[in-house]
Amino acid sequence: MSFLIDLECSDCGKRLTSDELQNLCPDCARPLLARYDTDGAAEALTLETLAVREPNMWRYREMLPVRDESAIVTLSEGGTPLIHARRLGDRLGMDGLYIKDESVNPTGSFKARGLSMAVSRALELGAESLAIPSAGNAAGALSAYGAKAGIPVYVFMPRDTPRPFIVECRAHGAAVELVDGLITDCGKLVAARKDAEGWFDVSTLKEPYRVEGKKTMGYELAEQCGWVLPDAILYPAGGGTGLIGMWKAFSEMEALGWIGPERPRMIAVQAAGCQPIVRAWEQQWPDAPEWENARTLASGLRVPAAVGDKLMLAAIRESGGDAVAVPDGDMVKGVREIGTCEGIFAAPEGGAVLAGLRKMIALGRIDRADRVVLFNTGSGHKYVDNLAELHEGA
Ligand SMILES: Cc1ncc(COP(=O)(O)O)c(C=O)c1O
Repeated sequence: MSFLIDLECSDCGKRLTSDELQNLCPDCARPLLARYDTDGAAEALTLETLAVREPNMWRYREMLPVRDESAIVTLSEGGTPLIHARRLGDRLGMDGLYIKDESVNPTGSFKARGLSMAVSRALELGAESLAIPSAGNAAGALSAYGAKAGIPVYVFMPRDTPRPFIVECRAHGAAVELVDGLITDCGKLVAARKDAEGWFDVSTLKEPYRVEGKKTMGYELAEQCGWVLPDAILYPAGGGTGLIGMWKAFSEMEALGWIGPERPRMIAVQAAGCQPIVRAWEQQWPDAPEWENARTLASGLRVPAAVGDKLMLAAIRESGGDAVAVPDGDMVKGVREIGTCEGIFAAPEGGAVLAGLRKMIALGRIDRADRVVLFNTGSGHKYVDNLAELHEGA
């Protein structure tokens, strides 16, 4: 069912077999990306076949890495709505404003896509236990898919991660370790202990298949837009896996003959208190050095250094996109505005993209006539304590 060929290093181009557990490129320690036989897949999967499949991310299975259908560990992720945000659009003077609402995924965020894929593939390749550094949503998702698969999960999160994430992981039976530090410190702990403990490390982009799950957001968006992509996508970028995944999906779909060469402008939104990609973009650096003293209530955006930095910057550059930072107060206003206008209780990361859109319009970098998609990547429910504090203060 899968037309996966092999893995290719995104930096040095080294090719590796996809049929063994892999992390980063052994030569240059950069992310490995999956390659597919798109000619074969295009023959096997026509748009007519696709139209009658189940509305979840596995509908694109020829272009996904799992070879044996019985290995799939699913809670029915993907198939999220693309909502025409009419009331919000009226406020902004935009007819073509849409929200891709990822909060309705299993476990309440888009992380379900990546972790369903990574867990399925890791099991298929023989992993016996899984470990992850996380800002919260990824840990919750891994814990749920690990439970569904019956495989032990070890989660490392910053000590100040919002409590619902910690409770959620424990409810799924994961071993939770709270770390005095940031997600990067959690990542170092996993790396240091994984060999001795026998864990397979599913850190984002240090494992090749979470991005394959997240790329399905791009496939779905194209399908929901009638195979004509929007003018711009605003995405809350931490590790950047979704942005990189969607960019990859667009190339794949062009190779499949499903879309033309037009691409949306990819706009990364970060927090003012942690904006390594925005800084690198503005300074025109080739990569994004670590951001010191990272702070933001949007825990998913508190990623001071990302292994996919070059890939994110390349997608922004090649798409004619942009990168913009917004303060936490504006994210909270964004959450309230999405909530009051559209009935969606967004995560602060979702509020951030609305704040980013306002900023881009003010700077004249987005036209009100553009067709724009905002990604609400998670649910506000798991951040209620942090949001309540700021609401009361506002
Ligand atoms: C709700 C939410 N949005 C955005 C992000 C950032 O995602 P990515 O790593 O794809 O940039 C995260 C990551 O934890 C998240 O939980």
